[in-house]
Amino acid sequence: MKKLALEDQGFTHSNHIGPAEPTPEEQTILEAQLRQLAAWKASGNNAFFGLPFVKGEMKKALTWAKRIRKRAKQLVVFGIGGSSLGAEMLLDVLGKGDFPVMLNDNVDPETLAHNLEGIDWRETFLLVVSKSGGTAETLSQLLTTLPAMEKQLGRKGLRKQMAAITENPDGALGLIAHDLKIPIIVHPHVGGRFSVLSVVGLLPGAVAGANIKQLLKGAAAMAQRCMEPELADNPAMQMSLAQHRMAQKSRNISVQMAYGDRLCKIPQWYAQLWAESLGKQTENGEARGLTPVAARGVTDQHSQLQLYAEGPADKQFTFLHHDGLGSQGMTIPPRYSEIPAVKPLSGRTTGQLFEAEFKGTRDALIHSNAPVRTFHLQPGNAYALGELIILLETETAITGALMKIDPFDQPGVEDSKVRARQYLAEM
Ligand code: PA5
Repeated sequence: MKKLALEDQGFTHSNHIGPAEPTPEEQTILEAQLRQLAAWKASGNNAFFGLPFVKGEMKKALTWAKRIRKRAKQLVVFGIGGSSLGAEMLLDVLGKGDFPVMLNDNVDPETLAHNLEGIDWRETFLLVVSKSGGTAETLSQLLTTLPAMEKQLGRKGLRKQMAAITENPDGALGLIAHDLKIPIIVHPHVGGRFSVLSVVGLLPGAVAGANIKQLLKGAAAMAQRCMEPELADNPAMQMSLAQHRMAQKSRNISVQMAYGDRLCKIPQWYAQLWAESLGKQTENGEARGLTPVAARGVTDQHSQLQLYAEGPADKQFTFLHHDGLGSQGMTIPPRYSEIPAVKPLSGRTTGQLFEAEFKGTRDALIHSNAPVRTFHLQPGNAYALGELIILLETETAITGALMKIDPFDQPGVEDSKVRARQYLAEM
């Protein structure tokens, strides 16, 4: 299986970062993080970093995937944020396979009505995912769908066509599942946005036919590399140090640009991981964070690139490159080649145009002295995706430690929930 290829083009060693060696304070934090990674690895499914090393989550996912494929012709998933984005990424990057999986991560009434209209629940399995079990959007999806399911299946039938993933048996989802005698699949003790390598991501992925064994194998191999004591051998430590220094030097916008439509869900997953983990206050009340921006090549060259090329030098760039796309595509016929705008295209493939535009954009940013890194991978390569996932998660966790914030909580989202509840009460 081809591995993830990483090109570091000034990301960890540019003049934006300062000296390559960690300061004594940074060194102390990095050493503590190495010990922390070892502890997480040992704690198995109680920490995101342990997930690639345990078999339990994969077994749960494969057992349930087999059951679901036997009982239904499609899977519908309810969940939001960390309970959805990882699965969305797996499905898009690894391919949707031969079994339809429909993820519903919003309560836009039009979309929801459109997605659920006319569903034959006798041939459909419903998976409701909520770690806390109390998320308003997910609960409302479930509660509005239950009557149709009960009507078609009856109480007994319902139990065969539905399961819930939750950590908290006393949360609303746990209580409803208990009352309706719906099976509960235990959510491991990891935060939603770090849960893609648990049953939360693995189960929808396995139902769709993704190779979750290779995904976890790739993740375990990269996790091992992230535990290397020498900075030069440890990609997560090097990158976290670079991220921390860039944040200090106001390079605090992290643009992730995917060249390859099947890679586009990675920046969306990453945006949540990065924003919810790192955008917060230190114990002293100082605001910290690097703002993630998801971009799509080549389309956003015609939308965002002007800002990246000539706007403030406050950005760093991660490219995700669909390896091998350049050799695909239809040949542009040598018609109208006497027209100057057509001439360079004549006889080239659309893949070659895509590749040339990727290289041109990346090189222009490198030339403008911006910190750039490129991950090369092929969609469908579960091993390489597993490597990338654990690397970005580990980078996020260690960057949080260097920035002196807790990457695993999200106190800032509470206020909006309280206000929304007040509006609901007044309606
Ligand atoms: O990563 C997170 O913690 C959040 O994005 C949650 O996943 C999201 O709020 C959904 O929460 P829950 O899984 O409890 O329904």
